Amino acid sequence: MPRVVVYNTNDDKQVRNFKDLDFVAQELIRAAMEVRRNAYCPYSKFQVGAAIQTSDGSIFTGCNIENGAYPAGICAERTAACKAVSEGKRDFVACAVVAQQESGFTTPCGICRQFLAEFAMQRDFPIYCAKPACPPLRVLATSIRDLLPRSFSFLANK
Ligand code: THU
Repeated sequence: MPRVVVYNTNDDKQVRNFKDLDFVAQELIRAAMEVRRNAYCPYSKFQVGAAIQTSDGSIFTGCNIENGAYPAGICAERTAACKAVSEGKRDFVACAVVAQQESGFTTPCGICRQFLAEFAMQRDFPIYCAKPACPPLRVLATSIRDLLPRSFSFLANK
C-alpha cells in the first residue's frame, strides 16, 4: 500500500531561511519583532508586530491595539500602514509580520490585505511572515498577489 504524503506545496516553496533573505527583508522582520513587544492585546493576548518599507527606504512599524469595544481594535499591519500614509509615504515596497502561532505563519487578515494592496507599489509586493525568535529561523515569503488575487481597486495600475 503506497503511503500518501500530503504536502502544503504552496507554503513549502515560499518558506525560506531567514539568513538567506536580503538585508532589507531581515531588517523589516527584526523591526516587526521589536515593535510586537508594544502590542496592546489584553483581550486576545495575541501579540503582532508589523513593519513596512516605503520607496524612500523609510521603515514604519506598528503593533495591534485592541479595545474594550472589540471591533474598534486595529491590526499591526494597518497601524504601520496608517503611520506611513499619515507621514506622507504612500509607496509601499515590502512588509513584514511577526506573531507566534503554533499552527503556522501569521499572515495579514482580509481587511489588512485589502488595505495594504491600496498602497503596494507592485502587485508582487513582498510580505514576510515570521515567528519571534532571535534570529527568526524560517520565514514565509509571500506577496499581496498571492494573498489577495484579483483584488478590488479603483486604481488603474493595480
Ligand atoms: N492581528 C493582527 O494584528 N494582525 C494579523 O495579521 C492577524 C490578527 C491581531 C488583531 C487582534 O488584535 C489579534 O491579532 C487577534 O486577532
